[in-house]
Amino acid sequence: MPSPHPDPYREIDAQPDPLRFIEALEVRGRTAAQVRLRRRFLAFIPVRAGAHVLEVGCGTGVIVRDLATRVGGRGRVIGVDRSRALVKGARHLARSHPGRRRIAFRVADGARLPFRAHRFDVALAVTVLLHVADPLAVVKEMARVTRPGGRVAVQDQDFGTVVCAHPDRALTARILDGVVDRIYEEPFSGRRLPGLLRAAGLGQVRLLADVFQDTQLTSYTENFLARRAENAVRFGIVDEGTAQRWLDGFATMLERGAFVVTVNYYGAVGVRPS
Ligand SMILES: C[S@@+](CC[C@H](N)C(=O)[O-])C[C@H]1O[C@@H](n2cnc3c(N)ncnc32)[C@H](O)[C@@H]1O
Repeated sequence: MPSPHPDPYREIDAQPDPLRFIEALEVRGRTAAQVRLRRRFLAFIPVRAGAHVLEVGCGTGVIVRDLATRVGGRGRVIGVDRSRALVKGARHLARSHPGRRRIAFRVADGARLPFRAHRFDVALAVTVLLHVADPLAVVKEMARVTRPGGRVAVQDQDFGTVVCAHPDRALTARILDGVVDRIYEEPFSGRRLPGLLRAAGLGQVRLLADVFQDTQLTSYTENFLARRAENAVRFGIVDEGTAQRWLDGFATMLERGAFVVTVNYYGAVGVRPS
């Protein structure tokens, strides 16, 4: 059997514990700085009342639920994801949402969308392209199912822009750079988005540079740093003791009131030509 890809988001259903990812995505979705990033991105596209919207790689439906509120009673939102476990979780989580009647979910791969051409006013993908083998194929599919004059929008973190206040800068760089180089084909994903949209034939491409910031060590950031430490050990970058020392360094910064982690997020939007 071939060894699994080191990025679990490539194939959530093949992970030993897919439910962990439901929790992780929902925790991220509730984190205040992430709520603000989403709000600014949806306003930047923009997604308007009455729009028919597709979200590719919807995960547990955090953004689908936001979109359902934004598009109002005449709008429709479909979320697709290649993970059956996440789509099942998304359906469950949407059941109590006031806009549930305008929400639908399907299991589908972003590179082969089960929709006719020109069906949506907006197609978007948030923190998905980082995880796919062929991001251009996904963006081209998103463009195909978007109507002429409609918008294709993508947002991604860029792991070349993670800034941490930590007592050991060299160790921080070794762990962060070493881990992302082994997990992602293109860890600097955010900055390539405008080029991808243009390569897919979209016009009037605009860029939104935004920043996630945490000065409190929220659960989301704590989980992010713990996964980086765990992977650094798994990939043989550091031993367990060093990984723990690195995590302890963040706790020290927090005690001193000096904890800072920021990550740049890049959003790009383009218009589907006639
Ligand atoms: C980091 S999660 C983002 C989920 C959601 N967009 C959010 O921001 O909460 C990435 C998602 O992309 C999905 N995914 C990865 N490759 C995919 C593909 N080729 N087609 C569709 N979904 C994919 C994963 O299953 C996962 O749900």
